[in-house]
Amino acid sequence: MGRYSDAFAAARDDRETFWLDAAGAVDWVSAPTHALDDADAPLYRWFPDATLNTSYNALDRHVDAGHGDRTALIWDSAMVGEVRTFTYAELLDEVSRFAGVLSAADVSAGDRVVIYMPMIPEAAIAMLACARIGAVHSVVFGGFAAPELATRIDDAEPVAIVTASGGLEPGRTVEYLPMVEKAVELAASPPATVIVKDRDEITGSAADHAGWLDWDAEMADAAPAGPTTVAATDPLYILYTSGTTGKPKGVVRDNGGHAVALTWSMRNIYDIGAGDVWWTASDVGWVVGHSYIVYGPLLVGATTVMYEGKPVGTPDAGAFWRVVADHKVAALFTAPTAIRAIRKADPDALELGKYDTSTLRTLFAAGERLDPDTFEWAGATLGVPVVDHWWQTETGWAIAANLRGLEPMPIKAGSPTVPVPGYHVGIVDAEGKQLGPGEEGNIVIELPLPPGTLAGLWRDEERYRKSYLSAFDGYYLTGDSGYVDADGYVVVLGRSDDVINVAGHRLSTGSIEAVVASHPAVAECAVIGIHDDLKGQRPSGYVVLKAGADIEADTLRGELVALVRNEIGAVATFRDVTVVPALPKTRSGKILRKTMRQIADHEEYTVPSTIEDPDVLADLAKQLGG
Ligand code: COA
Ligand code: AMP
Repeated sequence: MGRYSDAFAAARDDRETFWLDAAGAVDWVSAPTHALDDADAPLYRWFPDATLNTSYNALDRHVDAGHGDRTALIWDSAMVGEVRTFTYAELLDEVSRFAGVLSAADVSAGDRVVIYMPMIPEAAIAMLACARIGAVHSVVFGGFAAPELATRIDDAEPVAIVTASGGLEPGRTVEYLPMVEKAVELAASPPATVIVKDRDEITGSAADHAGWLDWDAEMADAAPAGPTTVAATDPLYILYTSGTTGKPKGVVRDNGGHAVALTWSMRNIYDIGAGDVWWTASDVGWVVGHSYIVYGPLLVGATTVMYEGKPVGTPDAGAFWRVVADHKVAALFTAPTAIRAIRKADPDALELGKYDTSTLRTLFAAGERLDPDTFEWAGATLGVPVVDHWWQTETGWAIAANLRGLEPMPIKAGSPTVPVPGYHVGIVDAEGKQLGPGEEGNIVIELPLPPGTLAGLWRDEERYRKSYLSAFDGYYLTGDSGYVDADGYVVVLGRSDDVINVAGHRLSTGSIEAVVASHPAVAECAVIGIHDDLKGQRPSGYVVLKAGADIEADTLRGELVALVRNEIGAVATFRDVTVVPALPKTRSGKILRKTMRQIADHEEYTVPSTIEDPDVLADLAKQLGG
């Protein structure tokens, strides 16, 4: 472990030199003279005296260096059977003009812009255009329904929404405009401007809404806008993610630390540089899409593939291999659930044989645990290293990884390998005592976190401190549990809070519970994440009916499923409803969610000593066959 341990030690023992050195790969307007501002610890700022523009680093700098004709972005849509390619010069032109459109709509540096778009190039263009003028984007995943969009609008208080007429899911279209309309109605402070990219496949357009602007019409005569210089510590984006409660957390990412960290990660973790073709099969609505569809690959001058489609069914389980072959992809990053979906549809990988995937060097996986079975299958099938790595929306890049560019290490199934330089991972028990090798506990990271990680929660410092910094003094709480083995390899076992991970999508059981509890027949409920072979986990609801409620179980289920879909969105994948006579609780009234999950998953469980009524648990176990 030579190069890795050297880098790890350098980042720990001489943080300033390590990160200033990494910052040398970024093109600054005014370069940093020091790396970390810890005057306000435990709140930290990276590169406090530096200025830059992120879109300049992602675009202009490559064009200025004479690489304008290199391919920046390949959009491949399995949904409409179309491929569009943008060189760096072309992407710069699109981004500059859309930045001009935003400026003409009075969007200025520091203003927020909500982007609610499907996987089309205009989503990336809108993000980079915001970065260009110093506006702060907040991308909302297309699978969320109007109330979730409204919650984010109310928190971010955007001056504009950039959207499209809709998205395409297998067998159906998703019309965005009625949802945007409803969200704007629901929002306490609706934005002044709505810009719509019209898609031929979807009904509805800006023309149907008084005052809404049409993307193409605005772009036709837009004056290009140049890059605005911002402080390294200024926010680049807010990305909402699920917490324990219903209200999503607005993770704030800065400009400077983000550019430094992502550039470092492309080279050292993914071994990707200028001219390489890189494909992240995720969605721009998630952090993986922000970091590794849009910013990371463009910062290093690589070609990024943006794919609209699914791993299976669009049209078949060969979809990913077709994209790899067509675009000569060197590395693919996806979620384990996508690999499981391909395996389920094509267990013998017959589709793979139809394509020349010889350009593929590595398959990276993150977003949820990579189970050893899927890891083995993917490795044996593809014949390339399958590399798990662990991170979260909050960190923006990997906490633990096998650093393929720095020093590839032996891979152990079930482990994302070692802490990335800059991250000092520890395992502590409930009292904060450090645990030894192999001992399971809360995974924490010693403060300060490295550059590129969250600068805080949008306008909610108290929640930031409470959620992440106050549990264990001097440490960031990841919310995951796990252990570090005797070789220093990290093993992530799952969340220790009420966050669940469904098909790589992070959801809050608390927010689903709030919707289920709003049904008139429901007295109380618990939603837990239970094991699902394909999606990793799925939400499962247990409801106690109000006395005298007269409703058939099937009717109730249908109504609750529709309610969750309308309030949260299809992405919640809420389908399981079980009516129970009572919920197991502690004497202080806390629902025993963990024990319920163990029963539902047919795992061993112990009856907690604090239980209020052991019979309730016994009855539940009988009902669920546990
Ligand atoms: N807009 C609207 N609806 C969407 C959507 C979007 N962008 N994305 C998903 N949905 C809908 C789906 O159509 C589905 O609806 P249905 O209940 O009518 O069938 C529902 O939400 C659940 O979707 P999902 O659980 O994602 O299943 P899927 O079959 O659509 O896709 C995968 C399966 C594996 C392709 C998908 O889950 C995936 O890509 N996961 C990886 C997520 C990821 O990238 N995470 C980031 C870390 S890498
Ligand atoms: P998100 O913020 O949506 O990226 O989700 C982050 C959460 O997903 C983490 O806190 C983990 O619970 C889980 N996760 C992400 N990557 C991995 C991984 N490689 N192994 C295990 N869990 C993971």
